[in-house]
Amino acid sequence: MNRNVAVENQASLENEPLYRKYIQPMTLEEKAAQLLQLAAPFYDKPGGHSEITGPMEELGIGGETVQNAGSVLGISGAEKMIAVQKAHLENNKLGIPLLFTADIVHGFKTIFPIPLGIGCSWNPELASRSAEVAAHEAAVSGIHVTFAPMVDLVRDPRWGRVMESTGEDPYLNSVFARAFVEGFQGEDLTGDVSRVAACVKHFAAYGLAEGGRDYNTVDLSERQLREYYLPAYKAAVDAGAEMVMTSFNTVEGMPATGNRKLLRSLLREEWGFDGVVISDWAAIKEIVAHGAAEDDKEAALKAMMSGVDIDMMTASYINHLPELVREGKVEERLLDEAVLRILKLKEKLGLFENPLRGADPAAEAEIMRCTEHREVARQLAEQSAVLLKNEGVLPLRQGQKIALIGPFADSGDILGWWSWLGDTETAVKLGGAMQQLAADPGDIVIAEGSGIESISVAQKDGALQAAQDADVIVLALGEASYMSGEAGCRSDIRLPEAQLELVRLMKETGKPLAVVLFNGRPLDLHGVYDAADAVLEAWYPGSEGGEALANLLYGRSNPSGRLSMSFPYSVGQVPVYYNHYSTGRPFSAAEKEKGNRYISKYLDIPNDPLLPFGFGLSYTSYQYEGLQLSTHEMTAGGELEVKVTVTNTGSMTGTETVQLYVRDVAGEVVRPVKELKAFRQVTLAPGESREVALTLTEEQLRYHHSDLSLSSDPGRFRLFAGSSSRDVLEAEFRLV
Ligand code: BGC
Repeated sequence: MNRNVAVENQASLENEPLYRKYIQPMTLEEKAAQLLQLAAPFYDKPGGHSEITGPMEELGIGGETVQNAGSVLGISGAEKMIAVQKAHLENNKLGIPLLFTADIVHGFKTIFPIPLGIGCSWNPELASRSAEVAAHEAAVSGIHVTFAPMVDLVRDPRWGRVMESTGEDPYLNSVFARAFVEGFQGEDLTGDVSRVAACVKHFAAYGLAEGGRDYNTVDLSERQLREYYLPAYKAAVDAGAEMVMTSFNTVEGMPATGNRKLLRSLLREEWGFDGVVISDWAAIKEIVAHGAAEDDKEAALKAMMSGVDIDMMTASYINHLPELVREGKVEERLLDEAVLRILKLKEKLGLFENPLRGADPAAEAEIMRCTEHREVARQLAEQSAVLLKNEGVLPLRQGQKIALIGPFADSGDILGWWSWLGDTETAVKLGGAMQQLAADPGDIVIAEGSGIESISVAQKDGALQAAQDADVIVLALGEASYMSGEAGCRSDIRLPEAQLELVRLMKETGKPLAVVLFNGRPLDLHGVYDAADAVLEAWYPGSEGGEALANLLYGRSNPSGRLSMSFPYSVGQVPVYYNHYSTGRPFSAAEKEKGNRYISKYLDIPNDPLLPFGFGLSYTSYQYEGLQLSTHEMTAGGELEVKVTVTNTGSMTGTETVQLYVRDVAGEVVRPVKELKAFRQVTLAPGESREVALTLTEEQLRYHHSDLSLSSDPGRFRLFAGSSSRDVLEAEFRLV
């Protein structure tokens, strides 16, 4: 912990042309200002869009500091960006362009499904393409850096931000982390102005907030951190993410934003990250509220010593860093290094030669929500939806009379919380899309049925009337988008009572009932799953959501999504996740049957989630057989090939996701009961069989031992291949 935190020496700094040209002539105040990131309202002029995500406080920042600030958050629109950049350069003594940043989390104007939905697509190529599209739309609008991907591993659906994550598995999250970074950044940020730099967040373990309450304490062992939580951030860093954002929480009792061990020892020294570290919104100042700094000055000291380069939206750095340097508490070189990292990113983005970069009003008019982009959004929405139950109701048949009822039947609130530029007016709504697909638009009768959290007599009457002549009732239910996302936590994760009442009312009609769910988290589906004949999880499907869902409901496309986060049986099980440890008294149905009380279980609910990781139905069925391993003895540095034959035994073409899991039967420290190691998607025509091969390497069996060293243990391994973490064929091998 008492490392010398300066990583550059003076001579190596002086070898840097950017240092000599820009940093050497700067005053301490100018250096500190370069580390400041201000939100759009500081630059506000009428007609622009700005994004505000955190509490805007009275920062007491004067005009000169604004002129010298290094970066801005949440300005968009090419015209506005161009005006702000030009004005900035006219007033900035050193001629250093501003860096424009924003949260482009799942789309810019073309909105893709929420990341939790994208995780359920198990399609990293399409996820990457969505990031590329988002980057292009953002880049022509003047943005240089996106605060994405968010790769926090999540296990607690009470936490509203699970919607921003791809789920509960370190491997799957890592695959998506890489895909998003590659999609945002492309291969050449300097030459390709249609890409933006990626900022991976929130470092680290933000997803483990106690009680699922946002901004709450996180405490976990370093072994857990390394095993489960760090891999996805590491994957993003290895894929070349240019920026890392600190998280709001504590890690080992230290706020992440002032955590030297995390940011310097691990991120910079161990992982070799030499990009920019940015605090989350006001997180430097919040070190005081955490109780790890007495005042703002100490908070600034801690953040700087930890290696945080950019102070997002507090005056901590500008107010205190110059003084801290003058007092000899912070070496000036540290400031120089931080400024240098920011300038290097600006250089990489080509901003010194071309400060307007991709900002282009003409391109903006041409590409925003263009057909090609919307097509990617539609495909991804189709692949993100997960069919959770289907007892013969879906797909709907042409000619059937459908009563489409519920608060989402005709709602544009299908974009999700992190879609600040998304337009709910132009989002493709379910009702209209179904009417377009139906042989006769009159076959679809739409009724509101209830509000999100209220139900009136008139709404109930309307629902009953709509249902009267229907062959099938489709209920479009869910959470309003404000019910998830940042600070959108819930302790009761069932649908609001008003909607459950609507389900009961419709159930009483005795008609077949299909439910389509719009929500930002795995829900407790009591009152829905039991009552419905079919349940399709749509998440917030994005701007083309209605069309995608209509295609799925009518069987124009076959559902292929698989849960990337378990659906709990009820909130009392939370956290419930597939890759848990066994315990010394694992649950077994046989022991329970025998009346053994002393096994790890609840008296009132099952241990298993309602729907496990990897689960998802389709309109066809698949059979797995012939699981074979190329060897039953793996050697250090070696690998084995797993083959399994999958047959489409139904009557519709479908895409199946073949999943490979392992269990290390006995480790030096306990190992998860299953861990995803590989997966592959195959599209099969009815009756078609395919032998699917997946590779497992010894390297993938390595884990962090009690001394945190990474290695594998010789011994027995169980291997599972199948269609979910629950439905698998099993084999064994030994590592020798
Ligand atoms: C969120 C970040 C986001 C930042 C800037 C914060 O409140 O936690 O995810 O990037 O605001 O908008």
